[in-house]
Amino acid sequence: MKYFATCAKGTEGALRRELSALRLHAVRGEQGGVSFEGKLEAGLAACLHSRVAMRVLLELARFPAGDAASLYDGARAVDWSAWLTTRTTLAVESTLRDSGLTHSGYAALKVKDAVVDALRDKLGARPDVDPKDPDVRIVLHVAGDEATLSLDLAGEPLHRRGYRSGMTPAPLKETLAAAVLALGGVDRERPFIDPMCGSGTLAIEHALAARRIAPGLGRPFGFQRWPAYRGALQSTWDRMKEEARRAALPAAPAPIVARDLFTKALDAARKNAAAAGVLADLRFERGDVRDLAPEPGMAPGTLCMNPPYGERLMGKPGDEERGRAGGAPRGARPGAGRRGGREEPPAFDRRAAHVSQLKLEGLYRGMAEALGRFHGWSAVLLSGNPHLDAAMGRAEVRHRLWNGPLEVRLLRYRLR
Ligand SMILES: C[S@@+](CC[C@H](N)C(=O)[O-])C[C@H]1O[C@@H](n2cnc3c(N)ncnc32)[C@H](O)[C@@H]1O
Repeated sequence: MKYFATCAKGTEGALRRELSALRLHAVRGEQGGVSFEGKLEAGLAACLHSRVAMRVLLELARFPAGDAASLYDGARAVDWSAWLTTRTTLAVESTLRDSGLTHSGYAALKVKDAVVDALRDKLGARPDVDPKDPDVRIVLHVAGDEATLSLDLAGEPLHRRGYRSGMTPAPLKETLAAAVLALGGVDRERPFIDPMCGSGTLAIEHALAARRIAPGLGRPFGFQRWPAYRGALQSTWDRMKEEARRAALPAAPAPIVARDLFTKALDAARKNAAAAGVLADLRFERGDVRDLAPEPGMAPGTLCMNPPYGERLMGKPGDEERGRAGGAPRGARPGAGRRGGREEPPAFDRRAAHVSQLKLEGLYRGMAEALGRFHGWSAVLLSGNPHLDAAMGRAEVRHRLWNGPLEVRLLRYRLR
């Protein structure tokens, strides 16, 4: 069987290494993901163990589909009864690239018609469609004249590990945080500090990896609702989870510190760490990144962070909780920027944006200065603002990747 695991653009290398380490066959990096081959167990292993993959797709058919009729015929020829019964609900989603078919909704509808017709012919009744919460998710991808039909093993995308309930602005997806740690070469055996932890994603993903806790242990998967799951596959899955549980370490091998300037962020990070089962592995501290200094007696490790990029995290004038993220200058009086107890309305005009930018540049300079105190450590930064790169100087490793639609840089420094 052939699979395609998808991931955030720019993280394919990390996913390829991860899947190779699982000893999956024919692992090959492609744009937007990695293909591999194997039995159903191989797909289950990717779901359970991959920290970087977003989805795991099992390829059912690949055929020429330049128009709606050939798409219907190709989809109809698949033996859907191997995957669905008349009582299984289904949904079809589709993406089109350089295709004669111009409407993805219409293409999905054609595939749905083909599946339903094929099953009615073979089983005498048709299954229902449930676009919101289907038992089986069918994925159509058309590139040029070629259509690929797959089943989505994960269901809910894999970045939803199930631990995030505490929210802060601009959290990293769990899978992207894991890719940052992998691509940044973060040493799992050494101390780790995220001085701008927000909802704690980097520190939590690091703790999960350091304790070798399989990321899929705490969530359900789409394939568990497939008719084919019941029986032998279910026993295989239970066994795989049991082995994964046994492989986990009882505690992280080195200190993990999650810091932020804001109490609300630390509260969210604590809540998420508890849900992920790594609360005892993390230490939480409130403080300004610019005041950060090495702790006496702590061996060198990695400083890893995703500093604010700009507008999205800029505080409104007078917002104390956000003041030092670029809103108010250091040492500003509490309440400064308020008039008569009222908050000023947000003023994102060009001047305000310019002032905010200058403050952010000040934050980056202060951050670079603080990092300069960490002799012998490594720093891994996810930067969405060229001023950060400029403040930090020449990186040992620079890697381009995408945080959703935003092009960002992973920067790695050896601090001397
Ligand atoms: C882009 S967010 C980090 C998101 C985080 N990686 C996550 O996944 O939730 C940047 C964080 O930096 C924090 N921050 C801003 N200015 C700071 C400062 N001067 N010192 C420490 N933390 C700061 C913000 O509170 C915010 O939580």
